[in-house]
Amino acid sequence: MPPSTSFAQGLRQSEFRFRCIACCVVSDHAGRDFRCGHCGDLLEISYPRWKDGGAAANEAEQLKAEWKQRRLSSSAVDLSGVWRFRELLPALQSEQEAITLREGNTPLYDMPQCSRIAGVQRLLAKHQGMNPTGSFKDTGMTVAASFARQGGSRWVACASTGNTSASMAAYAARGGLRSLVLVPEGKISWSKLSQALDYGAVTCQLRTDFDGCLRLLQELVLRAPVYPLNSINPFRLEGQKTIAVELLEQLDWQLPDHIIVPGGNLGNSSAIGKALLEMRDLGLISRLPKLSVIQAEGANALVRTVREAGGKKLVSVEPQTRATAIRIGNPASWKKAVQVLEATGGACEQVTEVEIAQAKAEIGAEGIGCEPASAVTLAGLKKLVKQGFVRSDESVVLVLTGNLLKDPDYIMEFHRGELFQGTPHERAGATLESLRCAPLVLDATLAAVTRALEQAEKSDPTHG
Ligand code: F0G
Repeated sequence: MPPSTSFAQGLRQSEFRFRCIACCVVSDHAGRDFRCGHCGDLLEISYPRWKDGGAAANEAEQLKAEWKQRRLSSSAVDLSGVWRFRELLPALQSEQEAITLREGNTPLYDMPQCSRIAGVQRLLAKHQGMNPTGSFKDTGMTVAASFARQGGSRWVACASTGNTSASMAAYAARGGLRSLVLVPEGKISWSKLSQALDYGAVTCQLRTDFDGCLRLLQELVLRAPVYPLNSINPFRLEGQKTIAVELLEQLDWQLPDHIIVPGGNLGNSSAIGKALLEMRDLGLISRLPKLSVIQAEGANALVRTVREAGGKKLVSVEPQTRATAIRIGNPASWKKAVQVLEATGGACEQVTEVEIAQAKAEIGAEGIGCEPASAVTLAGLKKLVKQGFVRSDESVVLVLTGNLLKDPDYIMEFHRGELFQGTPHERAGATLESLRCAPLVLDATLAAVTRALEQAEKSDPTHG
């Protein structure tokens, strides 16, 4: 059922330009560092052929129907939960150029226990940790890596707290590209580091933090023939937009009141916000959900930027959090994120280390599980409900960004009661005792295991 109007044709071509987010200058080409040639700010992709004022209702419905129809197709781009929505993406020269691992297509789960805990009637989780390399980065990487290869790059590179590097290394390997990873030494989880090794990346552990790695990468791309795949690369954000498109499709286009995402380098919140605004402008949705961003208290640059500088000037911080994925003090996409908060009316909040650990255990106890950075969403929601920003009768979607298996050390330390030992959070952390279930080391006897079972039954809060 092909859409046949000028709207659909305009979309189909997905002709694109680079537009500066600050001075709005539009150009056909981007420099190697993806910075505006006039003012040096970040670029975003714009689509000149999308006509102003959106589509007629039947055109938007046709497009939604076509996206649904593609689920029955077995072509590689249709099996991708990103390229399936290609009308909203920059067009490749041919569909065969797409480097895809069947990313996207992630589940949307009901969270009945967590919804009771947070005090909202309807809570859902869009689990981006179910992507091929275990994080949302894959949705952006498929697009940016494909453009890297189409443009003739041989080397791709990124600075990362772990997930970007795992994803980049996988897509580079699939696409026959070489990859260079810059990660902060000792500050990323072994699971993520080992993914980059397995996928054959040249992996450098630098004696600095994430922000230091990103600074170095930005210098490197100006001097060496490497193509950056961080979220300063606007193609990444185009792919990540599809998180929101797929979410709304799964909801049968019934909009949630709130979408809540974790904030680190702030690419993902920017991408999801861009998707919502574009879908509204194109007539695919009629109003905007509020998009809120949650940060760890120890890595709260956006929160401080909004509260202390009215969103006008970045307030950077020395980042410190066990949610290592979002241990970032100088977020590159802060301006885009501020724009998105303003446009959707979302909030920006911070949560403590103990609140993150508690929320993570609660999500785990729901049978879902996620990595620590993702759990800030539930912790943040609880705060937003208490503040009255989210009402109990509103519907909320948490974007869980990473898989539980991304950081097993955190989980083991939490359940063994070691996570906060010797830290300023030790006393507050002790209040989470009831959420712990450390492994039991027992003699290999029937009696020992039976005793363990009986004890567990006695202390089970759902018992009798
Ligand atoms: N959640 C996870 C699991 C992440 O890996 C990241 C970022 C974020 C949330 C924050 O997203 O940066 O778009 O605001 N990880 C990056 C990395 C920085 O290198 O893997 P953001």
